[in-house]
Amino acid sequence: MNKFLFLFVIVFCVTKTSSSYAEEPNETRRITAAVENQFPFMVSLQEISEIHNILNIRGHKCGGVLVTLQHALTAASCILQYSSSQQQLVPIDRDEYRVFAGSVSLTNDSSPDRVRRIANTTAHPEFNQNQHNIGVIILGSPFLHTTAASISIGDIGNPATFVQCTGMGWQLGPRLMYNTMAAINDTLCSRLTQSVPNTLCALPATGVGCVGEAGSPLVCQNHVIGVHISISACTSTSVGAQLYVCAFRYITWINTVIALPIPELGPEPSTAPPPTTTTTTTTTTTTPVPGAAFMFQPGMTLLAVMVVAQTMKASLIN
Ligand SMILES: *[C@@H]1O[C@H](CO)[C@@H](O)[C@H](O)[C@H]1NC(C)=O
Ligand SMILES: *[C@@H]1O[C@H](CO)[C@@H](O)[C@H](O)[C@H]1NC(C)=O
Ligand SMILES: *[C@@H]1O[C@H](CO)[C@@H](O)[C@H](O)[C@H]1NC(C)=O
Ligand SMILES: *[C@@H]1O[C@H](CO)[C@@H](O)[C@H](O)[C@H]1NC(C)=O
Repeated sequence: MNKFLFLFVIVFCVTKTSSSYAEEPNETRRITAAVENQFPFMVSLQEISEIHNILNIRGHKCGGVLVTLQHALTAASCILQYSSSQQQLVPIDRDEYRVFAGSVSLTNDSSPDRVRRIANTTAHPEFNQNQHNIGVIILGSPFLHTTAASISIGDIGNPATFVQCTGMGWQLGPRLMYNTMAAINDTLCSRLTQSVPNTLCALPATGVGCVGEAGSPLVCQNHVIGVHISISACTSTSVGAQLYVCAFRYITWINTVIALPIPELGPEPSTAPPPTTTTTTTTTTTTPVPGAAFMFQPGMTLLAVMVVAQTMKASLIN
């Protein structure tokens, strides 16, 4: 109950002081820009044909997290695509994508050390919508330990109280952003969003600032706990409850995939067109304001406060 009050107070305080994200690296109350090497395990899955796109996010499609220097966990939905000819989901073409790591800035990719080709991708065989939405990207060669770092998988169980974690992602990029997240137990989670087996929920600890995209990690106690799968939250009544697959529940499967021999890569496929030939026909959408995705919509804070207050009231009654 104290914890509810705690969250409520934080939500309230931040509501009064912030309406946009801050740049200060030490500001943990809101969405914050990460500094170099802060999250060296973070990777970006990028669509090569979009690398020269004017949006300057290098074809960023999904986040991922290195569990070895050659294997990244991500969401299964990130590495599958619908094939209309086969009328089913099929693996993405490994030659059409690459993986970036080693800088908070997606545009800081001129060093070949920061980019890896994909040797294979493996989605969980029982993946179905949000269920078992986890997969592994196998890189053609490992990142150097001077460029990136892996992080081990951990478990926080079903927390009796809030567990402080960190969520991060590039979203609209090009800069990696993060926020403090409070992981919550299944009981509370099921009140705030739809529950899915083998997932956990986390709320922005401040009540504001959803961060991350499909595939990006939830890190608690220096371990990766979750892989982001549902980002519906900040614009609905769900108080920003983010849904993550519990990586630990899949540890046996993940270890099996990691132990498989890594396929040899053939010669480099022909590269994407140079920037000068890029047409702007695909960029008719509005140019994103940097950080727009993190900007908090007025009214949402109030909603968050109200829902948290309701939840608190319900818990007081119980
Ligand atoms: C946070 O950054 C501000 C300036 O940006 C600095 O004055 C302050 O000491 C920093 N706080 C911590 C805890 O590092
Ligand atoms: C790009 O990477 C270099 C080398 O790590 C780093 O010093 C620099 O700060 C980065 N630039 C940006 C804009 O992130
Ligand atoms: C790639 O992974 C799939 C499982 O998703 C596996 O069936 C296939 O054999 C792997 N390909 C190679 C070349 O290892
Ligand atoms: C779930 O978490 C809330 C908030 O910390 C706590 O009040 C509640 O007792 C927990 N419920 C269970 C079943 O652990």
